[in-house]
Amino acid sequence: MKPLIVANWKMNPQSLDEVRRLFNSIKKGIKKIKNLEMVICPPFPYLLVIKLYSHKAIKLGAQDCFWEEKGAFTGEVSAVILKNIGCQYVIIGHSERRRYFQETDEIVNKKIRAALKIKLNPIFCIGETQTERDKGQTQAVLKKQLTLGLKDISKSQIEDVKFFIAYEPVWAIGTGNPCSVEEAMSAAIMIRKIITSLFSFSISKKIRIIYGGSINRKNSANYIKEAKMDGLLVGGASLEAKELISIIKSVS
Ligand code: PGA
Repeated sequence: MKPLIVANWKMNPQSLDEVRRLFNSIKKGIKKIKNLEMVICPPFPYLLVIKLYSHKAIKLGAQDCFWEEKGAFTGEVSAVILKNIGCQYVIIGHSERRRYFQETDEIVNKKIRAALKIKLNPIFCIGETQTERDKGQTQAVLKKQLTLGLKDISKSQIEDVKFFIAYEPVWAIGTGNPCSVEEAMSAAIMIRKIITSLFSFSISKKIRIIYGGSINRKNSANYIKEAKMDGLLVGGASLEAKELISIIKSVS
């Protein structure tokens, strides 16, 4: 299976010119690369801009969505709107949303269900904080996030999309302190076991697990080749075309 590389630009860059430059450099850099799936998740206003610059190897993704389809929800963007403008992926439950916008597991669940309803591919983020890890709670945290996040979701809904779980330990995000290959592997094993107990072995095999947190050109290949993750969620490094292209080349 081709690895998935997700560029999460977060609230960057600040101008259209920078978006154009960054996108064009990425586009040039990945010209000959075929054996991976690339998704760019820019801030909402840039989604259509990137769509216009379009490149068949680069898919459009959003950083979040709202669970209602339409109506009086000032400031929100629904999964339906995203799908209708050409988005194929949506990040849901990122730790920054959980932390700064008080997103609970219940909210995350509503958003995942909204995405699944219209077959928008979810990238469902989970992961423990440093304190939780220190207390030996990693498995319990992952179990809670998965159980509540996937509540009332059927096997067939998962089978209908490309379903990604991003293991993103909070302590590794934006810190320059990535999780080790062994830690990523052991988290992936825990996640597969939990998914198997919630659904079935065949669903667990169908769900793809990617890693995110302080990815750079030096560590990227390890997660794919050694930890056998199905892809990477890249934050800071995805804002530098050279770095992102090196990451892509290291895993393709
Ligand atoms: P980072 O962010 O690569 O800057 O650590 C990853 C993420 O937040 O998805």
